[in-house]
Amino acid sequence: MEFQQYVSIIGAGPAGFALAADLLSHGKNVLLYSHPTHVRHANSVREKGRLKACGVMEGFANIPITTDMAEVVAFSQVIFLTVPSTGQDTILQEMKEYDLSQHILIAVPGNLLSLIKDANMEVGNILETNLSPYSCRMDEGQLLVLGRKKRIMIAAVRNHDLDPSFYDAVQDLFPGVRLRWCSSVVEVCLSNINGVFHPLMMLMNAGRIESTGGDFLLYRDGLTPAVANAMLGVDKVRMDIGAALGLCLQSTIEVSNECYDQSFTSLVTLAQKSPPHNRLRAPSDFGNRNISEDVPDLLVPWCGLAEVLGIDASPLAAVIVLAEMTTGESFMETGEESEEVAAGCGFEEGAGRTV
Ligand SMILES: NC(=O)c1ccc[n+]([C@@H]2O[C@H](COP(=O)([O-])OP(=O)(O)OC[C@H]3O[C@@H](n4cnc5c(N)ncnc54)[C@H](OP(=O)(O)O)[C@@H]3O)[C@@H](O)[C@H]2O)c1
Repeated sequence: MEFQQYVSIIGAGPAGFALAADLLSHGKNVLLYSHPTHVRHANSVREKGRLKACGVMEGFANIPITTDMAEVVAFSQVIFLTVPSTGQDTILQEMKEYDLSQHILIAVPGNLLSLIKDANMEVGNILETNLSPYSCRMDEGQLLVLGRKKRIMIAAVRNHDLDPSFYDAVQDLFPGVRLRWCSSVVEVCLSNINGVFHPLMMLMNAGRIESTGGDFLLYRDGLTPAVANAMLGVDKVRMDIGAALGLCLQSTIEVSNECYDQSFTSLVTLAQKSPPHNRLRAPSDFGNRNISEDVPDLLVPWCGLAEVLGIDASPLAAVIVLAEMTTGESFMETGEESEEVAAGCGFEEGAGRTV
């Protein structure tokens, strides 16, 4: 893979706009795609004439925006995907009619896109990260970047015999972030610590979210010792899965500390003192990706893997069931298929490891 000066970005939300502005300021040419039925942020930016960024990224950016997938595919061989994993199917459906055999798709985050949805797609390669490089929000065409990560994890689904220049060329597409290359997309997905933070913070603050319409700080006010204890229970299962797969996963607080170059020793202190976290407002309701993305696309596949590996998955199952009862959604049914994930790890249901 050569160093790329042209980069396509699919997903016109805060994460996509932050990446586009960052790459533009580092001399790349970018094209941002907004799905025709998801244009609210794109329209706001167009109305204002340019993107205004504030917080840890300050300034204005003129970001070319399209709703035409043909332009995205023609613009660059590198395509970032920054829609929530719940939107990946819609986007992949749009991409199906194009020849992507020379393209690299980088899903930020991946949430096992390549194991679950790669089957019918011939893409040159698919890379997945565990997190977005930016902690950010958007309102009326203005981007607020609360934090930039120093380190995120990444893996390529086809990771054999990659030329060393490939790693350098990918690193060049992540300004200011050091990539930690993982052994597989499964290790990357298990390192998406939003699965530990978000669903429990939402569910254990459900009354507060609904009675205040989200008028409180989600981490600072919502991640108290009892919530942290529940998170540690979920985190233990996540790390047990990693250990059973031969992976030495970091704890959630270690991943977060490494991301932001911090050194917190407890989740509660992190929630109170970490600038990228302690100013984040709670969502106004439960129709939010903290549940709709992180339960079906993180907790469900983790739970499936734990069960295949003979690990007590009850803390994960408890959170999933509570999310189902709270929202009326059947996340277990809509979630990522555990058999495909297990097969991707070299396991078959009810059997030992096969590779
Ligand atoms: N923002 C952060 O601080 C942050 C931090 C860590 C990880 N992430 C992850 O990064 C990803 C993107 O984050 P974000 O904050 O930019 O997300 P977002 O605003 O919720 O979504 C990004 C864009 O995708 C669109 N979209 C949603 N569902 C879609 C669908 N079915 N088909 C086509 N487009 C769809 C959204 O449209 P609508 O506006 O209409 O919904 C929006 O334009 C998510 O996976 C998120 O979990 C974000």
